[in-house]
This record gives sequence, structure tokens and C-alpha cells, in this order.
Amino acid sequence: MSSMPNSPNIFNRPAPEDCIIVIFGGSGDLAKRKLFPALGNLKFKKHMPKNFQIVAVGRKPMESKELLSMSDYPSGFSEHFEYLQTDYTPEGIAKLKERLEVLGTEKKLPANHLFYLAIPPDGYADVAMALRDGGLIQSLDQKTWSRIVVEKPYGSDLATSVQLNKNLLSCFDESQIYRIDHYLGKEAVQNLMVFRFANSVFEPIWNKNYIDNIQISNSELLGNEDRAAYFDSSGLLRDMLQNHLMQILCLVTMEPPVTLTADAIRGEKVKVLQCLRPLDLQLEPPVAVRGQYGKGKINDKDVLGYREEKGVKQGSNTETFAAMRLNIDNFRWADVPIYIRSGKRLGRKGAEVVITFKQLPRILFNSAGHNVAQNRICFKIQPTEGIMLELTSKNPGQSFELSDTSMNFCYNDQFDTSAADAYERLLLDAVIGDPTLFVRSDETELSWAYLDPLIKHWEKTTMGKRFPNYDSGQNGPDAQNDILINGLRRWVDFSKYDNICT
Ligand code: BG6
Repeated sequence: MSSMPNSPNIFNRPAPEDCIIVIFGGSGDLAKRKLFPALGNLKFKKHMPKNFQIVAVGRKPMESKELLSMSDYPSGFSEHFEYLQTDYTPEGIAKLKERLEVLGTEKKLPANHLFYLAIPPDGYADVAMALRDGGLIQSLDQKTWSRIVVEKPYGSDLATSVQLNKNLLSCFDESQIYRIDHYLGKEAVQNLMVFRFANSVFEPIWNKNYIDNIQISNSELLGNEDRAAYFDSSGLLRDMLQNHLMQILCLVTMEPPVTLTADAIRGEKVKVLQCLRPLDLQLEPPVAVRGQYGKGKINDKDVLGYREEKGVKQGSNTETFAAMRLNIDNFRWADVPIYIRSGKRLGRKGAEVVITFKQLPRILFNSAGHNVAQNRICFKIQPTEGIMLELTSKNPGQSFELSDTSMNFCYNDQFDTSAADAYERLLLDAVIGDPTLFVRSDETELSWAYLDPLIKHWEKTTMGKRFPNYDSGQNGPDAQNDILINGLRRWVDFSKYDNICT
């Protein structure tokens, strides 16, 4: 797909048009914890269109007041909010249609409709089809618009994701579908592209000639958090790597897009996914390892092991930690190992991308008996945002002793405004109609195609007594070091970034 240089892009975002936002799953956790507060903040910051209405849709009887009781909302917000008890049977959708028409007349709202599916994924296709059959989806040639926002997971493997895309595309055009990956809404993730393509110093060295390896790591303190119904049949690989970490990988390694339009950027991400070397599961050292947490301590509190948690199948084989070595077989990245990992119930919360540059030759300051550390750039994505450039410098004094030092850029030192919440950013983008930070169908399918063999392999080979293989509150399984090559014996110690940019 090509994009014209004058298509809407990151710089020329149109103003949001008046619209109605319909949230299916309107009495659910995601809506109450994330979506309504994000919309409230957008209204407070005056980013919402002048005239808008939110219709939270759910099956249970509910009062709007109850739904808004979990957070503080700006004054007047409740006038833009209502709850509609209905379902997605033909009668239920007819009730919704009627309500949208009444709102259109009473509140003078155009028929611009954003449908947000905050419901379990097995309902996505049914809701989309019910909206289509109920006459609620407008074609692209109309003056007003319909858009649908879907949350991950988009399927549980390649076949189911292809089927889901087919079903959605039988109702909506691809340009009307907004697949959310909330990591793309994180400020520091958006800055990856700016860092690479708005600075002249880094791009020339952003390749196999200068870079030794790339590590992308996400550590969570949280465990499965009562989500066993979903997580126990999903696992970490599907939950975090297939989407969030793959998206970060693409932004770190893609070629410069021809323009800053959504399709040009998404096209470059797709090319990275097309260049991933197929996983050789027989390889030694292995390309991937998995882990599951046992009991332990988080913030000094005892926590249960994964298998002891409510709703988890007895002797569950589900991984709560995954680490992989990848290769991108293109000219820029040939033979640069890329390591990605993510785990629950680890000893810290943090997400980082670390680029390690090649070792100096064994001469001058790095000659025998002296070891100069490899330069690194760390992108700190959360819980706070920053970029650290790790350098070697001379210690003050008469002798030539060297030290590892770091130049730190912290968002919170540099800017007064705090980073916008990912959901705020993404909801506004969907209202505006900017798909740049959403995922296209080919991106999800390529990512599934790449991971499918590993998913199937792990499903076939059960871990039995080898799980759990790490204690809660520790660093994850020792086996994660088995995937490292090129003389690397350990992962970067990511905890050293904890005290920076606090
Ligand atoms: C979600 C996963 O997509 O991302 C969760 O389903 C995970 O399992 C969460 O905890 C992590 O998001 P964040 O923004 O807290 O890093």
C-alpha cells in the first residue's frame, strides 16, 4: 500500500468531529478502569469534540452514576454519558439504533459512530455482524463515519486471527478497523521513531556494523490477577510477545518510512516481520525458553505460585515468562541477535529497550588488562520515561582510570506536562480517525505466523515437574541465559535503570 505525501500524517491531524462513542462491555472492568477515565481526562483537557455522547452498552441493569463512581470526572462529563441496557441480538441492536437516532436528533449529533468492543474476543465477530445486519455500519462513501475499535487478543494463533480478520472485514473496511495495542500509545514508545529519525547522529550507526545486540525486556510485579479464565489458555507468549514486544521490535528496527502517514509506517513494520528468520526449534543454544512463577515474595508480601491461584488448571503448563532470540534477515540487521523477554511476578516493574554497541578493538584504552564497557543506549519505557547513553570517561585526577558513566535524558526533568495515558492517546486517535498507532491486519497475521510453531511446540511438550521454575519476586528462570550467544553470559541488568528518572 503506498501513501501520498499529502495524506493526513502525524503533523496534520484533523480536529475531532462531533460523534457518539458506543462502548460494548460498558459495565466491565476495562471500561470502568481505563476507558471512561481516559474520556473524562480528554474532556478535561478540552481534546474531545465540542459535541459528543458516550453510550455504555451492557446486558446488566446499571445506573450511569454507578459506572462513574470509580474515578473523578470533570464537571459536566455525566451529561455526555449514559448507560443502555441491551445485547447484540437483532432486537438489542435495533434498540441501540433507535437510541442513536434519538440522540442524533435531540443532541444535534451527526451519525459519526465509534464502536469500542471492550468485551471478550469471542464476541468480536458477533457484534460486528450484528452491527452490519442491524444497518449500523456506514460505507466509506457517506459523509458520516463508522469505526470499530477492538482490543487484543486478535485470535489465539494464525488461523484464528485470519478468521477474525475475515469476519471483521466482511462488515467493516480495513480503514474503519482500529486494533488497539496500548503499548503504541505509550509516550516513550512513540518517541522511538522520533529518536531514530529526527536525530542525525544515530541513524548512520543503527545497523549490524555498529550494533552488537538488542534487548527488549518487560518485567511485571503483577501476576495473573484473577484473569485465569483468559490467561491460563493464553500464556505470556500470546499475551505480551506476539503484540506489545513485537511492535516495539518493529519500531526499533524498521527502515525509515517514506512519509509519516499511517500506511507508510505500518508498511515498514510489516517488512521487519517479513524478514524475521523462521524459528529453528532444534537449534542449540535454544531460540526460546519459558518459565512459570512459583510462590515467593513481592514487596515483602507472600504471594502464591501460579498453579495455586484461583481458576488455574491443576499442573498448568502455561508460561508466565518467555524469552526469545530473534534474527532479522535483512541488510541492516543480518546476524545481530535480538533478545526479547517478558515475565510476570518478577522482582521489579520496568520496560526497557537496550541497544549494545560493538566492543572496541583490543587496543589503546581497551588493551590487555583493561576492559572498556560497550556503549549502550537504553530507552526506558516505564514506569518512568527516559533515554540513557552509557559512555566511558576518565576519572578526574592524575592517573588514567576510567569509569562507566551515563548521560541521562529524563522526560520528567525536561517537560512539565506528564505523559498522556496510552488509552487517552488511542481513544482520541480513533475519534480523529488517525490509525498510525493501531495495528493493521497484516501485522497481526505475520506476527502470529512467526510465533505459531513455537506456540504449538510448547503446547505439545509439557513442563510437568519442571514448572514452576522461578520464585515470585526474583529475576525469572536461570534458563533465560541459555539463549544468549556471541559470548554474552547474562542479560543486561535492567534493575540499574530503576533509580534513574524517578
Ligand atoms: C496487557 C496484558 O496487554 O498488558 C497484561 O494482557 C499485562 O497481562 C499488561 O499485564 C501490561 O501492560 P502495562 O501497560 O501495565 O505494561
